[in-house]
Amino acid sequence: MRIYENYSLLRCNTFHLDVKTRWFVEYDNEEDLQKLLRDEYFFSQQFWHIGQGSNLLFLGDFNGIIVHSNIRGIEMVEENDDHLYLKVGAAENWDDFVAFCVKRGWGGIENLSLIPGEVGAAAVQNIGAYGVEAADVIAEVHAYSLKNSEKQIFTNEDCRYAYRHSFFKEPENRGWFYITHVVFRLNKKPVFQLDYGNLRQCLEGKNINLQTVRDTVIEIRKAKLPDPEILGNAGSFFTNPYICLAHYEGLKKRFPEMPHYAVNDEVVKIPAAWLIEQCGLKGASIGGAAVHTQQPLVIVNQDHATANDIVSLAEKIQREVKEKFGVELQPEVNYI
Ligand code: EPU
Repeated sequence: MRIYENYSLLRCNTFHLDVKTRWFVEYDNEEDLQKLLRDEYFFSQQFWHIGQGSNLLFLGDFNGIIVHSNIRGIEMVEENDDHLYLKVGAAENWDDFVAFCVKRGWGGIENLSLIPGEVGAAAVQNIGAYGVEAADVIAEVHAYSLKNSEKQIFTNEDCRYAYRHSFFKEPENRGWFYITHVVFRLNKKPVFQLDYGNLRQCLEGKNINLQTVRDTVIEIRKAKLPDPEILGNAGSFFTNPYICLAHYEGLKKRFPEMPHYAVNDEVVKIPAAWLIEQCGLKGASIGGAAVHTQQPLVIVNQDHATANDIVSLAEKIQREVKEKFGVELQPEVNYI
């Protein structure tokens, strides 16, 4: 276990905000984590567990303890004719794990290529892209509850997964469960999901296999999402809003060209990117923060942005979308 005092979080958040934490603690295994969870000082402070910081916005210096897992490793725990189960350390880099599986011909997460972050955070956020969600392949989540310092094994059902939602994000659980491992169920005979957006079209003329799907998803993402290494950002800043059918019918009359996806008979999902673009906000900026011009769902740190610049810009977007469409955008990014 490593403990640092007055630690810079610059490399721990993809917005590249230059903030500090009073303490930074990194544990390497479950024994270290158990030790931490028996520590009275730990519980007397404010604490927050981070992954790679790719979905976080630090509002300022953190006067408490930032915790990070360094639990690594990929282990096969079960195998049958159709599937295999891999138990993966929470600190494994998500995209390295995707590459590892694709290389071995194990299918299920190839559409989730190039998503920044770590395996543990992927299970909390229920990351998703191109018609696939982490929830589709998660069999179990192993986590310690800070409420009783006990280890718990969550089945997929226990995780209460929904669009960008999980048990671990619910207000009474948020920040109270430290994930050590995630067990994934992968397909030995890949089943391709190519019907989202222009994925199938981009694969035209190519042999369809796990590697070409991965390469194509990477190509599409690189073309429209800014690389956080170059331009600080946390991916989609807002989730795509769900609205009721009556609200949708009303909007449809005023905006017949509005893109939409039926979630069920009563609920419709509208792309937040479209709503933001319609408000004329592509490229809009406050201080050093700006709405990305290729993908307006992303807020970028264009030039030494402060957390305040980013929050003010997010609020301006929420205000204008609400005024024009009566739709409330919810941040996907966690404010700390
Ligand atoms: N659109 C516009 N203007 C634009 C861009 C998009 O009007 O400039 C509209 C188009 O109608 C387009 C629609 O928005 O069809 C949806 O865009 P896209 O498919 O690019 O995806 P998204 O809804 O913007 C979601 C995820 C992304 C994920 C992509 C691909 C959320 C909040 N975001 O974005 O996830 O990569 O789908 O599956 O659900 C992330 O969470 O950080 C993230 C990048």
